[in-house]
Amino acid sequence: ETKGQTAIAHTNIALIKYWGKADPVLNLPTTSSLSLTLDEYYTKTRVEEADEDSLLINELPQDGKRVHQFLNILREEMGNFPPLRVISENKVPLSAGLASSASSFAALTAAVAKHNGWDLSLEELSRLARRGSGSATRSFFPDFAIWDKGHDDKSSYAHHLDVPDLPIALVVCRISGMVKKVSSSDGMQRAQTSPNYQAWVDESAKQLEDMKVALANADLDRVGQIAEKNALAMHDLNLTATKQRFTYFNQNTMKVLNEVKALRAKGYIAYATMDAGPNVKIITNREQAEAIKEYLAERFRKIQFDIATPGPGISYE
Ligand code: DP6
Repeated sequence: ETKGQTAIAHTNIALIKYWGKADPVLNLPTTSSLSLTLDEYYTKTRVEEADEDSLLINELPQDGKRVHQFLNILREEMGNFPPLRVISENKVPLSAGLASSASSFAALTAAVAKHNGWDLSLEELSRLARRGSGSATRSFFPDFAIWDKGHDDKSSYAHHLDVPDLPIALVVCRISGMVKKVSSSDGMQRAQTSPNYQAWVDESAKQLEDMKVALANADLDRVGQIAEKNALAMHDLNLTATKQRFTYFNQNTMKVLNEVKALRAKGYIAYATMDAGPNVKIITNREQAEAIKEYLAERFRKIQFDIATPGPGISYE
């Protein structure tokens, strides 16, 4: 059997977003971010000794420029290692609008490290994974994680946030199967030209502190309020960019956002968060998630709804 190593990383959803780079080469963010790891979506990646670096995702060979670059960054950082065949099983449906780069680069980093016998803490793995994709920093930890923005390559990585039992659940509204047309990196670059950008950065630091308090108090309504405010302000930056303004929202995004408001008026816990695509993730509790899903499924026959719950940190096979 070929010598190799397998790692599994779950994806994560930011409740306080990463949306801008202080250093695009090192992937240093302009803000710290806070996320929830999800049980239902993950990437399983095996690396094997090979004659040259290559990448297979869900059985299909990929050109994988980002992965090739990332393996070379790992070689520069950690010392050279022989070529690897990367075999990835991605259980993050593209149409779910969840960042599959988060679980992909976390799983790849962990598999390569274990394969090469590097003895690294989760924080050190998180720091390395940052160079592949920023959101990957947060996919090593169960439940909640905070990516501290830091000030240089050494100080920018994520850690676990211990939170008392919180019955949080997400209703994932899979609005469109379309592949996103503006990549996160490109979208951030545009957003950073918004006149509102610095105000968003300043507000985000306050929201992070408020979010920590809300989580410590297990105050799910407050968690949802802060997350929705942070996400809407992030998307406002895209609309107010001075260079190439754009939006990830479509008509269905707006319709679902209106229903989220209507659900709140009916007394439900329901708050929205959106990422680099048209899909909406509704923050609620385990008890109400099923009812919200049914309510929306009746109104939007063409949208698919999943329920997602807190998930585990990195693991190996
Ligand atoms: C909207 O991690 O995909 O999901 O670092 O350029 O790979 P790169 O960006 P990426 O950005 C994620 C942006 C977001 C918010 C978040 O996950 O914090």
